[in-house]
Amino acid sequence: MTKNKALLAWVNEITALCAPDRVHWCDGSQAEYDRLCGEMVKTGTFVKLNAQKRPNSYLCRSNPSDVARTEDRTFICSRQQADAGPTNNWRAPAEMKATLTDLFRGCMQGRTMYVIPFSMGPLGSAIAHIGIEITDSPYVVANMRIMTRMGQAVLDVLGNGKFVRCLHSVGAPLKSGEQDVPWPCNATNKYIVHFPEERAIWSFGSGYGGNALLGKKCFALRIASAMARDEGWLAEHMLILGLTPPKGPTIYIAAAFPSACGKTNLAMMNPTLPGWKIRCVGDDIAWMKFGADGRLYAINPEAGCFGVAPGTSMQSNPNAILMLNQNSIFTNTAMTPEGDVWWEDMTPETPATLTDWQGGQWTSGCGRKAAHPNARFTAPIVQCPVVDAAWEDPKGVPIAAILFGGRRPTTIPLVCEAFSWQHGTFLGAIQSSETTAAAAGAVGVVRRDPMAMLPFCGYNMGDYLAHWLKLGQQAKASQLPRIFYVNWFRKSPQGKWLWSGYGENSRVLKWIYERVTGNGRNTGKGQAVETPIGLMPSVTALDTKGLNVSAQDLAELLRVDVAGWLKELPGIREHFKKLGERLPQALVDELAALDQRLLDQRLQT
Ligand code: OXD
Ligand code: MN
Repeated sequence: MTKNKALLAWVNEITALCAPDRVHWCDGSQAEYDRLCGEMVKTGTFVKLNAQKRPNSYLCRSNPSDVARTEDRTFICSRQQADAGPTNNWRAPAEMKATLTDLFRGCMQGRTMYVIPFSMGPLGSAIAHIGIEITDSPYVVANMRIMTRMGQAVLDVLGNGKFVRCLHSVGAPLKSGEQDVPWPCNATNKYIVHFPEERAIWSFGSGYGGNALLGKKCFALRIASAMARDEGWLAEHMLILGLTPPKGPTIYIAAAFPSACGKTNLAMMNPTLPGWKIRCVGDDIAWMKFGADGRLYAINPEAGCFGVAPGTSMQSNPNAILMLNQNSIFTNTAMTPEGDVWWEDMTPETPATLTDWQGGQWTSGCGRKAAHPNARFTAPIVQCPVVDAAWEDPKGVPIAAILFGGRRPTTIPLVCEAFSWQHGTFLGAIQSSETTAAAAGAVGVVRRDPMAMLPFCGYNMGDYLAHWLKLGQQAKASQLPRIFYVNWFRKSPQGKWLWSGYGENSRVLKWIYERVTGNGRNTGKGQAVETPIGLMPSVTALDTKGLNVSAQDLAELLRVDVAGWLKELPGIREHFKKLGERLPQALVDELAALDQRLLDQRLQT
């Protein structure tokens, strides 16, 4: 338990407001987890999977209306609207508090209110922070136990210290005697609300991961990005991996790709290049602070992976598949007749019959998806066979390179390196990708998503980019990570993938390794040519031994498509206009310089 007066007072205040039948302080123990999962099996929320196939694992089917993050119901309620900026939904804090207070009044009737103490980051790390989530969802408790360090040990570290207040309700009070449903939520009212100045989150009406597991997107990105701005660090939507060559030291790389663009695959990839190793520190979020030596150190604030299941297979990501062998929760996947999970592209052969993600009968060839495209797994990262030895190091790992990227079938080459931190910030600012099923809305539309943070930045995106530039100016250039832009998703005009991706991406990482460390200079590798868009490998600088890509496709992957880039510029200008008046002038200057370099190049050719 705790003697933290602020915490006790807050729990009393919320108990009075939400009127739950019971209050339970989570101790984080295995016994507590097993008991809650057992109760959810009884109420129909969980289906226990065949223990022979997948020990201690559960399937959960959500309400079909509650399957993804709801960006249109997500709000940043800073005191000034300008501080939320033009890319966030905003309401005045007092007005929003009044609306929410009405919604939360009595909303936990008939339910248990759980108090979840959790640490984002290794307990006691100087980079970590503590939150308390209050929720009426046992599904949230079970997932938070996998995704964070959770329970009594956190209260012990917290002592009388400060914590981020995270309040969540599914928004479905039960009248006396009323039968509960397997996935309670509120069909008409959903609010995912952040008060960055107060460091508080109020989430109502949804049980879906990104809306309800408040340590993840709400705290570790939206609230933490505001904390990072105030305190001089970075909270980013980035995987962290360790890259080790056959001979030589490990470097650590952080990479920002939008949701469902392969962060988990890259973070635990098996390189095809002989002798190279990749180790996973994190697959979704990085918190980075400058160390005493001036370098940027990163921790993964999470303890689990909440990944997109469809497409994950022994071919695409064997280490993720092995990570899911036990102690995992699956949400909105299909189920096999043997009581195991299945999703599209999981196995080379599709089972003849399944139970689909909504619990209905499914037969192969029926034309419907068996799993929801945003079906998710929740699994402890420590179960990943290639988890990095330093993944829990409280000091964090020193970041040598930062990657930006997204899904772009045209124009954007396989890899290019920024000329400088400022140019790299510009490349991050214009980052673009096709939309995916991770958020509600149309799929496959190109959207500009600066640093993959558009849905996750807890303050004005212009100020956020200025913060990146400021950190770059404060640091010693030689200590800063080098910045790269990658695109694994190029297609030919006929729609054929030009690059096979997955393990072959290690060839690109090798070039990045050589750029960062200077290794390879004597072998002609790791060399770059200056182009209008950045520093790029010539075809011979990339290790292509054994690569099954034609010389023509490789040349296309590494070509600067001047005409294509010139066509991008109006869209980038439009995007910059949308970011508003706080967009730093330095980035507008970078755009003008890019325009000029492209025009010069066109004249020369
Ligand atoms: C996620 C997301 O769940 O980005 O990681 O949507
Ligand atoms: Mn994500």
